[in-house]
Amino acid sequence: MNILQELKQRFQATLTQLVDDPSAELEMIRPAQDARFGDYQANCAMPLGKKLGKPPRDVAQQIVEQLDLNDLCDNPEIAGPGFINLRLLDDWIQTQLQHSVSDERLGVTPTASPRTYIIDFSSPNVAKPMHVGHIRSTVIGDSLCRIFRFLGHQVISDNHLGDWGTQFGMIIYGYRNFALSEAYEQEPVQELGRVYRVVRGIMDHYDALDRQPVVAQRIAQLQTEVEQAERQAEEETEKAAKKKATKACKKLRGQLNEAVAEQKSLSQKIEKAADNPEFAERLAAHKTIRDDVLAETAKLHSGDPENLQLWKEFLPKCRDEIERVYNRLQVSFDEELGESFYHDRLKAVVDDLQAKGLATESEGATCVFLDGFEAPMIVRKKDGAFLYATTDLATLQYRVERWSPDAILYVVDFRQSDHFDKLFAAARRWGIENVELRHVEFGTVLGEDGKPFKTRAGDTVGLESLLDAAVERAAQVVNDNDDAKPQGAELSTAQRQEIADVVGHAAIKYADLSQNRASDYVYSEDKMVALRGNTATYLQYSYARVQSIFARGGIDIESLRQGNGTISIAHEKERALALQLLRFSEALTEVEVDYRPNHLTNYLYELATLFSGFFEACPVIKADTPELRDSRALLCDLVARTLKIGLSLLGIQVVEKM
Ligand code: ARG
Repeated sequence: MNILQELKQRFQATLTQLVDDPSAELEMIRPAQDARFGDYQANCAMPLGKKLGKPPRDVAQQIVEQLDLNDLCDNPEIAGPGFINLRLLDDWIQTQLQHSVSDERLGVTPTASPRTYIIDFSSPNVAKPMHVGHIRSTVIGDSLCRIFRFLGHQVISDNHLGDWGTQFGMIIYGYRNFALSEAYEQEPVQELGRVYRVVRGIMDHYDALDRQPVVAQRIAQLQTEVEQAERQAEEETEKAAKKKATKACKKLRGQLNEAVAEQKSLSQKIEKAADNPEFAERLAAHKTIRDDVLAETAKLHSGDPENLQLWKEFLPKCRDEIERVYNRLQVSFDEELGESFYHDRLKAVVDDLQAKGLATESEGATCVFLDGFEAPMIVRKKDGAFLYATTDLATLQYRVERWSPDAILYVVDFRQSDHFDKLFAAARRWGIENVELRHVEFGTVLGEDGKPFKTRAGDTVGLESLLDAAVERAAQVVNDNDDAKPQGAELSTAQRQEIADVVGHAAIKYADLSQNRASDYVYSEDKMVALRGNTATYLQYSYARVQSIFARGGIDIESLRQGNGTISIAHEKERALALQLLRFSEALTEVEVDYRPNHLTNYLYELATLFSGFFEACPVIKADTPELRDSRALLCDLVARTLKIGLSLLGIQVVEKM
């Protein structure tokens, strides 16, 4: 049962008598912000009054008279200028909850209009270890898959692995020049990772050297601009204009500071090399490394047997490496068609674009020019190489042909939004229609200093080390909590470890999923495992708390579920909790609309908070009558079951004890 949907349906019957298309008005039926105004509120009488040229209160009256809500709500109340306040009948709430007790899906009915979704997520470049940046796509995408499936949609999850790009040129080059055969024999992926970093280090150094004069020039330019802007701000007499000039000045100074900071970090990087003779030697020996790496990649792409052989040798090893992380995170995919899978289709894509007159030559490159974009989408470079965009076009075509999806979601960093805007525009021109194409973008993971999360040495943070650290932090929390139990600790060392493992992994996922995905967020190990607040730990704790109530009270919950217990709500806190339990379906629908799992985390957090309030006010084990005790136990059970399913839809497990 989705209460909001049910209400909208009832309103629709009435509103269509007043306007042809009431969809905008239906959107104005919402949960009430304040319990004093009932449970739901319809604010559509005001805009309707305007449309129909009638006083809104009269319109509200007319709607209320025609509405058929008697089985569901008390008589609607008209308040203020024409708000319609709705309060659900306690009887109705009880009946619905009683139904949930015996329903595995907790009253969430599968969608009446199932769609086929392809969800492209995680998609790391496999030649390097996964790092903190990969967490977002992986957990958001996985959670969307789980939620959409639960709602009854067909989902194809596809890990679009970067298994064919320049990074392979880098490890081929690195393997040839820097690999130690013994280390490679023993721990091949570690060794490949090491040579990757060696190559990266040298390339970065040359990039930094190239970048230095560019930044120096920018600093000089900004200095002049700042001086000019300061003068202008000084001279300006008119107040508004002065304010504007001062603001412009501030912005320029900010840019200047950034450039100076970049210059500093570039010189630090370059100086560090001078202090390191071994590195300096490598630099001298590999002056053309960037071109050489490109050449290795090009050779691989053109089918050079030796490079292809190396690629075939490396790839499974790299995939095993990321597989380990997926196992830890309990993430899996229906398909893992990496970029390499599409290689043979790229030429045909470009030929077809040309044949249809969509792609043209420009300065030697083949480009698709798109309305509304400054730069074209390049699909083949001057040297004949295909690009990321070409592969994405081929992928799109393949997916549409193979699965005829209703929607394709790309769970990818917001910094790629220009790429996806162009990809979607090009796809439409290419004739790919009737499929929703959506870049489900997300922001950056920041360190406590508010800058992109890096190690002290300035490297990206490896994902596995983060998982380890979170489990370690979780272990502290679990140990402290157990040690502080009034009746003494109750968990064995092995149990504690098992729980910490679940809690630690959950903490990282939840910290990410509970953010509005479009924003950046600060990675804070302390906060994410806190026992209070909007954390997985708090929700897992609430779940375990219910189990411990049952154990302490000797409550046979299975028998109550089998129909030997009846839910009745009397206390205001019971009612609030009951209503929240019934709103699970609404929360999932919200995620369905804008692909934001944080609607679900917010819902679960609110549920756990209401549960805590209920538990303080309404004794369960010591309830006044056996009937009341059974009713409250069933409410507790519904809370636990909702938490368990809700968390599982976020890819998070519960623990029975904590
Ligand atoms: N491998 C890419 C990267 O690491 C992400 C791929 C996203 N999916 C896609 N179809 N472009 O940036």
